Amino acid sequence: MPKKTTVSLIKCDVGSLAGHHVVPKPLLDVAEKNLKAMKEEGLINSYYVFNVGDDLQLLMVHEKGESNPEVHKLAWDTFRDAADKALELKLYGAGQDLLKTAFSGNIRGMGPGVAEMEIEERGSDPIVVFAADKTSGGAFNLPIFRIFADPMNTAGLVIDPNMAGGFKFEVLDTIENKSVVLKCPEEMYELIALIGTVQRYMVSRVWRARDDLICAVGSVTRLSQIAGKYVGKDDPVMIIRAQHGLPAVGEILAPFMHSYLVEGWMRGSHWGPIMPVGLKDAKCTLFDGPPRIVALGFQVANGKIASTDDGKPMIADLFDDPAFALARKEALEYASMLRRMGEFEPARLGPEEMEYTTLQQILERLKGRFKPA
Ligand code: F6R
Ligand code: MG
Ligand code: MG
Repeated sequence: MPKKTTVSLIKCDVGSLAGHHVVPKPLLDVAEKNLKAMKEEGLINSYYVFNVGDDLQLLMVHEKGESNPEVHKLAWDTFRDAADKALELKLYGAGQDLLKTAFSGNIRGMGPGVAEMEIEERGSDPIVVFAADKTSGGAFNLPIFRIFADPMNTAGLVIDPNMAGGFKFEVLDTIENKSVVLKCPEEMYELIALIGTVQRYMVSRVWRARDDLICAVGSVTRLSQIAGKYVGKDDPVMIIRAQHGLPAVGEILAPFMHSYLVEGWMRGSHWGPIMPVGLKDAKCTLFDGPPRIVALGFQVANGKIASTDDGKPMIADLFDDPAFALARKEALEYASMLRRMGEFEPARLGPEEMEYTTLQQILERLKGRFKPA
């Protein structure tokens, strides 16, 4: 059996500074300390701690496979420790996403978001991870379609014979908890018919059709109501493999030349423009946003993130670039247009989505006052 490497990106909102704005340094330090210790013990080979807005992100590379109980426990314990620190500092929303008390072997379904991809390393394996705040898994539908199915975005679909067979998409129906695999280009119209409904259908995995090589994994799982919270709406992460018969890094980033609208933003109840930013700007402000997305690039090498001689993982902050200034400007223009509409649809989400908010309590209060018209 060839050796396999696993990339795990596990994230959680454990509390933040000044409302739901940003994960402050003491919490990042807790994560750094725990992951460093477990790297020294040999559980994981490499790690990188970062945040996007109020979400603490643990990027880990190891050889233990997907859904490994020890790796998941490390993430869970780290989030617990960071939440304790947040409580001590009276940070906002301490422990917000930790929806269960006892760890039971797998962190899925306990609140945190998880994307994991086990790969057989190619000669060189470039990876891009995306992490977004103040939006949900459906926010990735449009770029994922563009990257793996749109020949007007990904030149390789036209030019590179290694991509000629197209890609297969696993689409989750988050309402009825079922999934379907659709192959492009043959079933492109069916794929768009489903994933254009971004609030219900979400892409969870992508494979290269000719050899079933895994190319993308998202954090969306089936809809789960845990402790009354609709977890499917959680700030999403995604892992994508690039180059050499797969979309190039530049083709993976090309859909972000322009902003587009995603659900989330203030109180998870609005349509808002996605804003691609570098890590230094991955913090939500205006109307608790606009929703931000970060893209980090790295190379996987011999079960690790390729690192400098002193062991520091080499991470490329891909949206920290003037090339994405247009999208950022567009995001502000769309934000200004949408916010002019205040709490009127379509700036605010439709009624089905508002079911998961405190608006229900207001409707409940008015219930007795409605008279037949
Ligand atoms: C959205 C988000 C924020 C909060 C808002 C109200 O995902 O986290 O927009 O919904 O700041 O927060 P509370 O109810 O905690 O005051
Ligand atoms: Mg929060
Ligand atoms: Mg968040």
